[in-house]
Amino acid sequence: MLRGAVPVFVDIRPDTLNIDESLIEAAITERTRAIVPVHYAGVGCEMDAIMAIANRHNLLVIEDAAQATLATYKGRPLGAIGHLSALSFHETRTSSPARAGALLVNAPQFAERAEIIREKGTNRSQFLPRPGRQVFLGRRWFIVSAGRDHRGVPVGADGGG
Ligand SMILES: Cc1ncc(COP(=O)(O)O)c(C=O)c1O
Repeated sequence: MLRGAVPVFVDIRPDTLNIDESLIEAAITERTRAIVPVHYAGVGCEMDAIMAIANRHNLLVIEDAAQATLATYKGRPLGAIGHLSALSFHETRTSSPARAGALLVNAPQFAERAEIIREKGTNRSQFLPRPGRQVFLGRRWFIVSAGRDHRGVPVGADGGG
């Protein structure tokens, strides 16, 4: 939404309080880019149906797994099914090691872009030594887009909470 996306809300199912997957397709227009299922209170949305709709319409699925750490859908961890997922480490969550949160990148084509946003819009993580990555000493990194500082903070020895 920071970049101008407009959310279109879809009503929820009374049994799970999650998005009603049977209403999603009626809300899709030519401007739709992604479906954002929110796994309310650790209860998984109907991810099989949602992924099938996304595939049919060539859309991304971005899971809001803020309330779903360690929860599963048909044996799969929530947050590991969509193309991207957001976790929350707010102190009210199942896991709260350091506040903040995490972006899970399940589709490799978004990894580089995610690193750039995390590094304040720079490509400097491409210059950090990593296994299998050649480091170009003496070259400079650049600001390549808008970004934010999303680098991790040291985790407290008590594990938080
Ligand atoms: C479903 C859901 N998504 C996202 C968030 C935002 O998490 P945070 O406070 O860590 O940014 C919350 C927080 O209440 C939430 O409940």
